[in-house]
Amino acid sequence: MPRPRVLSGVQPTGALHLGNWLGAIRNWVDLQDSHDTFVCVVDLHAITVPHDPSSLADDTRTTAASYLACGMDPNRCSVFIQSQIAAHSELCWLLNCVTPLNWLERMIQFKEKSVKQGDNVSVGLLDYPVLMAADILLYDADLVPVGEDQKQHLELARDIAQQRINARFGTEDNPVLKVPEPLILKEGARVMSLTDGRSKMSKSDPNEGSRITLLDPPELITKKIKRAKTDPLMGLEFGNPERPETDNLLGLYAILSGKGRTAVAQECAEMGWGRFKPLLAEAAVAALEPIQARHRELMADPAELDNVLAVGRDRAEAVAVSTLDRVRSAMGFPLSR
Ligand code: TYM
Repeated sequence: MPRPRVLSGVQPTGALHLGNWLGAIRNWVDLQDSHDTFVCVVDLHAITVPHDPSSLADDTRTTAASYLACGMDPNRCSVFIQSQIAAHSELCWLLNCVTPLNWLERMIQFKEKSVKQGDNVSVGLLDYPVLMAADILLYDADLVPVGEDQKQHLELARDIAQQRINARFGTEDNPVLKVPEPLILKEGARVMSLTDGRSKMSKSDPNEGSRITLLDPPELITKKIKRAKTDPLMGLEFGNPERPETDNLLGLYAILSGKGRTAVAQECAEMGWGRFKPLLAEAAVAALEPIQARHRELMADPAELDNVLAVGRDRAEAVAVSTLDRVRSAMGFPLSR
């Protein structure tokens, strides 16, 4: 029996933060032993908003190194760069031609991001979820581990596979594409901003104090946590809708310290912020320290990283090309290869 397959990715749009790690990458690490795991750096997605060409390649490599530093092991998974496999763009086009425009216009992330772009919204930004569907469907992924904010995009990928490709071009016994399932774990799926517990931690927030990146030095982590928004109440608790910052910071402490929510709820029930914040800072620094050390080593050995990405690309391409051929053939194209 082949192992079930996993596919996921992160955009190289700046340093990865605690949300990317706890919501997504941490779960990939756990899956790589039991699943055939493909993870890519989605650099084609990174250009759907204005980008700086002089840093794209470096950001892409740093992001790949972060996957490895967080525990993705090239002997147990495939790490690759999306734009190096042309099948992603080609399947995206085939899917574009069967995806209704109004499915894309109602995507929450498109609505949020397009407001920020004003008159400058690209067709690529609207098409973002179709490219994401192509990423997933090319690998016949069974599971897609992502944070909560990607739920709607996953539903779209399922609808495209089921209703627009399989229903039209396949048969019940012989579907063209596998319909993937999202994997969104409860803890860490929605890490919130340090400066506003009601909005999610995000790479695009202009205030750097709103997020902790995986490569922030210890003093900066401590400073950001010290300045994080809190409330004037004594005693820390989970689940109080009036205290979103408390819920978020306590949740981070539960994961980063490895103690879990029950123990942390007890430990902090009587605590004030003055005692809690240094504990959280210490836990965050300790959790990130090994990742940062490994990241430094990887960045110091470019040949090794190139090698990992070349092996990943070859493995990924073999799978992607065969799925693309299946879709081309189902849609009536003669196979050219
Ligand atoms: P990106 O780069 O915006 O986010 C990468 C991953 O991090 C998760 N995430 C969070 N999780 C918890 N709390 C947060 N504050 C937080 N912010 C981000 C996201 O849910 C995501 O899992 N569209 C994808 C990239 C992508 C992709 C794919 C993912 C392109 N193709 C195919 C899976 C499969 C994205 O959100 O990138």
